[in-house]
Amino acid sequence: MSDPLIEAALAARLNAFAPFSKFLVGAAIEDSDGRIHTGCNVENATYGLTLCAERVAVFKAVSEGVRKFRRVAVAADTDNLTPPCGACRQILWEFCGDVELVLANLHGKTETWQLKDLFPKPFDVSYL
Ligand code: THU
Repeated sequence: MSDPLIEAALAARLNAFAPFSKFLVGAAIEDSDGRIHTGCNVENATYGLTLCAERVAVFKAVSEGVRKFRRVAVAADTDNLTPPCGACRQILWEFCGDVELVLANLHGKTETWQLKDLFPKPFDVSYL
């Protein structure tokens, strides 16, 4: 049975702007009302200004006023499923907490993680 969140991440991946790496990534986030917000990686000629799919999805949702999230899916074309980078783990932690994270590829392989297992001892607002 297909998971609409994974399908949304796979669809978003097709919008990736990745002329430099050619590495296309899609992300999808389900909010507490069940709505899905998507993102793709958007690269830049300076390289360093590139934004990952996960952060684009989070920032799109946050900019629309959404603050509560249930699940995240990340899709890329790798056999060894692509996890969020460190910067995205920080952003996901701050906005989603210990959220369920589904990694997927184009061939139906999936893995489900809890963010705390990928991002132990995070810095967050509780330290401020
Ligand atoms: N990328 C993502 O969008 N998400 C990830 O989880 C890993 C990396 C992007 C950034 C860059 O555009 C390309 O993949 C190669 O690093």
